[in-house]
Formats: sequence, C-alpha cells, structure tokens
Amino acid sequence: MEIRQEKASENELQSKPDESALGFGKYLSDHMFVMKYDEGLGWHDAVVEKYQDFSLDPAAMALHYGQAIFEGLKAYRGKNDQIYLFRPQANFERMNVSAARMCMPEFPVDTVCEGLKKLLELEKGWVPRAKGATLYIRPTMIATEAGLGVRPAKQYLFFIILSPVGAYYPEGFDPVKIFVTDKYVRAVPGGVGHVKTAGNYAASIMAAVEAQEQGYTQVLWLDAVERKYIEEVGTMNIFFVIGDEVITPPLSGSILPGITRDSVIQLARDWGITVQEKRLTIDDVLAAGENGTLKEIFGTGTAAVISPVGELNYKGTICPVNNGKTGELAQRLFDELQDIQYGEKPDPHNWVVQL
Ligand code: COI
Repeated sequence: MEIRQEKASENELQSKPDESALGFGKYLSDHMFVMKYDEGLGWHDAVVEKYQDFSLDPAAMALHYGQAIFEGLKAYRGKNDQIYLFRPQANFERMNVSAARMCMPEFPVDTVCEGLKKLLELEKGWVPRAKGATLYIRPTMIATEAGLGVRPAKQYLFFIILSPVGAYYPEGFDPVKIFVTDKYVRAVPGGVGHVKTAGNYAASIMAAVEAQEQGYTQVLWLDAVERKYIEEVGTMNIFFVIGDEVITPPLSGSILPGITRDSVIQLARDWGITVQEKRLTIDDVLAAGENGTLKEIFGTGTAAVISPVGELNYKGTICPVNNGKTGELAQRLFDELQDIQYGEKPDPHNWVVQL
C-alpha cells in the first residue's frame, strides 16, 4: 500500500519541550500516521500527516462499546544520533492478537512498520537526547462506524502518535510502593486480560486512585477466582526473586504477554539464571518477606522499563522489599536492556531495529 506524506507547514511546528521535565505522555509530536478500514475495501488511505483532531460521529462504536486497542513501544537516540526501535514487529503482532480478540480487523504488519519508519524520519528531532528519555510510540485502533447495535463495526481508524517521555512513575526509576488489592479484580479467565484493550485500563482506574490515596503508586492484582495468585501490576508485569529463584506469573490468559517481560526472561536465561513462570500466591510472597528469602520484586513494561518495588501493602500488612532499595538483578537487567535499546551493546536476539 502506498503511504502518502503531507507535511505540516513550518509555522505549524511546535517548539520542543524541556527534556528534563518531560513526564509521561504530556507532549505530542507534530505528525501522525493514519490508516482507514472499511469492510469490503480493507485497509486504505495510509498517510503520514500533521497531528490534528479527528472528526468522529457521536455514535462511533468505539465510544459506546469499547472496540479500542493500543500498543506502546519506544524509539531511542543512541550514539552518533542513530535512532533505534525496540521489537516493533513483536508489538504489532501482539496488536493483531488484540484486534482478533476484539473482533477488529487485523492489519498488515509490514505496512504499519513502514508507516512508523516514515513518521519517525519526519519526527527524528522529537527523539530526546537526554539519557533515560525516549520517544514513546502509541499505535491505536478504534471503531469509527456510527451505530448503536452491539456487533463488530465495519469501519476503523488506525493511527500512531508520538510522545517524548521521561520516567513513567513520579519516583523515576527508584523503587515504587505497591498496594495489593483484594477488593477489585482486573481480568477473569476467558476475558480480555491478555490483550491491550482500552477498557482494561478504564476498569483499573478506581483501584489505582484508591491506592494512590493511601500513598501507593500502583496496584498489584490477584487472580479473579481465588484472589490469592499474583497476576500483574497496573501497567507492568511482575517478577520476584525468592531465595535463588526468579519467579513470574505464567501467561495464563488473564495477564498481558509483556514484550519487556519476555525480553527480561530471555536476558536472565542468557546469564544462566533460572526463571520460573509459575503461579505464586500473595501469602508465599509475604512468608518469604517474613523469613528473609524475599530478595527483590520488580516490574517490567515498555513505559515503566524495569521498576523496582520497595514495599507491598496487603490488607494492612506491610512487606518491605530489599530495604526499599533497587535490587541487584533489577539494576543489572535495567542496565543491560537500556544498553541494547540504545545500541551500545550487542543485540544477540535481533530485538533492535536501526532507523
Ligand atoms: C506500556 O508500557 O506501553 C503501557 O501500555 C502502559 C501504559 C498504559 C502507560
């Protein structure tokens, strides 16, 4: 498919934000990639154009029944101003899994990768220079057909927008405090917990707000059936170092198959560390905290990167982790992943795509 390009005029371009105070998702670049879908016609009208409002019918089905999916990946500025992408293909393939689950049309991954590259060529200047700051890439698909019947829509919009970002959490890359909720659940077996659909995040906000009111950064979800097995954190997968074991919950169908999660498992295994994908109860974690075998907890995600956890609160029981400090494995994984993402270390798994 041909991808058109319609550049914004010089006077429409914004000045770039201060890289020392980017936060997360506050700034958006000057251009975006857009592609349309109509049943019978397929995907068409792919264009890189100036960032602007969409015109959307108030009855657009995404607004009513939530056929909306998204992804998150990043571009990094390495040595000699070289720009790198981390596992873009894996992100778009995962997005097609989300599309299939939500009865939305799958898209050609090659076209979208090409559209992203075209967009980034135009927006290179938006990839931050400061270490730790990156350009967050947000591919999204929504149902645009107007109608109030509950069924798969026949029209969709796919778009990619770009946002220069710093750390996701206000703590930066320092340890975060996590509230374990037994009041709310995130996903049930057979549901949509394994895909990146907007409603999963909407449903998580109340628990996050209540946790924040108590001084916690995020929520740790337990399984919806027995409310005892660890699932994941609001915006990241979770790992535990207990004794000599590194444990993360298995991809049971109700947690997100994180690309950072997969990369971390691979790196640890490359180093000869055994990573077990197995069910773990919150009581097991608290007991390990009590008997001194709980060494580290950390989360993994595109936005969060590697985020050490310094404390858990479960039903008022406080479980301090590694004296609230970043653990050795979390630090090593963070450093290694960053070095690969910035093109500073060999990339044995071919994760990085150079622009
Ligand atoms: C990501 O890590 O890219 C995510 O999707 C988390 C996001 C909801 C902030």
